[in-house]
Amino acid sequence: MLVLGIESSCDETGVALYDSEGGLLAHALHTQMAMHAEYGGVVPELASRDHIRRLVPLTRACLRDAGKDYADIDAVAFTQGPGLGGALLAGSSYANALAFALNKPVIPVHHLEGHLLSPLLAADKPAFPFVALLVSGGHTQFMAVRGIGDYVLLGESVDDAAGEAFDKTAKLLGLPYPGGAKLAELAERGHPEAFSFPRPMLHSNDLQMSFSGLKTAVLTAVEKVHAEHGGIGEQTRNDICRAFEDAVIDVLAAKAEKALRDTGFRTLVVAGGVGANKKLRERLSRLTIRPTQGKGRLKKPAEAVQTYFPPMEYCTDNGAMIAFAGAMRAEQAVAAGGFNVKPRWPLTDIVKSAEAV
Ligand code: KG4
Ligand code: ZN
Repeated sequence: MLVLGIESSCDETGVALYDSEGGLLAHALHTQMAMHAEYGGVVPELASRDHIRRLVPLTRACLRDAGKDYADIDAVAFTQGPGLGGALLAGSSYANALAFALNKPVIPVHHLEGHLLSPLLAADKPAFPFVALLVSGGHTQFMAVRGIGDYVLLGESVDDAAGEAFDKTAKLLGLPYPGGAKLAELAERGHPEAFSFPRPMLHSNDLQMSFSGLKTAVLTAVEKVHAEHGGIGEQTRNDICRAFEDAVIDVLAAKAEKALRDTGFRTLVVAGGVGANKKLRERLSRLTIRPTQGKGRLKKPAEAVQTYFPPMEYCTDNGAMIAFAGAMRAEQAVAAGGFNVKPRWPLTDIVKSAEAV
């Protein structure tokens, strides 16, 4: 089955062709980052108009790269939500019109399910069950995943998502939009001990997280440096980036360990834009489950964890993950068509309650 996948939820237009037998045949992406940069954030109206301009040429490029024709497409999957309403409508209208013209089904896909399943696009893919850490600009969630469509929300950020915290912190440090990746780059040159920021909710004994206070701690530090030195030097900025990144990663690593311990799963899958962060990848790659010590017990060795990441190019928004999730849903015949979009669509709508774990 050949599925065309369309992603248009935010500022990336992604198109891909996934074949249930041959795997990913082609994918094409256009990022609007440069267009939005001068406004310091995504301008929804500009995003929608640009998606409309890009969808046809990107689809043609995919078909050409895969050596396929429109007539070979068996189904069209598209991101139905969550995301920007107008941007989603551009993708939905295109997907529905194309499917109608080809007389083929449409498969609405939840954007986060796309991210969640993206590590399965790698050659070395995880086996079910696994704990998924979805860490993007809009979400920071731990899910227990037993199979396609079998997701249980274990915990999430109660305020800012980790990527959002990266971007907002980058902005207050004067870095250009979207600052997350740039902040991470500067952090590589920062001294680890120069600043220390709080690890919010580290000991909350659940899988909830909070990142908005961290951003405020950075703001306070920046104001203090300004007051004392009349400005912020390059090295100081790098040091702050480093301390911020270390704090986020400490929280994510500790919660990941807890999620694995709670579920008994020993496979961790990391998905979403922040999954592109090098330090996070290194840290989670060597994650182990340390034994909880009972009095008088013999010390048990730490248990190994297998960690999987999507290939770098499928970490941030892309069409490949939507084509793949669409193909998986179609195989299970659990997809229902729809022209409408769902700008606010909690993943919990398609997951089970936490009691089911
Ligand atoms: O998954 P994604 O492309 O879009 C959403 O669905 O949100 O994630 C984008 C987020 C942004 O917040 C961006 O700053 C962050 O991922 N990001 C990073 C890195 N690369 C992208 N954050 C930290 N380190 C990076 N290297
Ligand atoms: Zn995303």
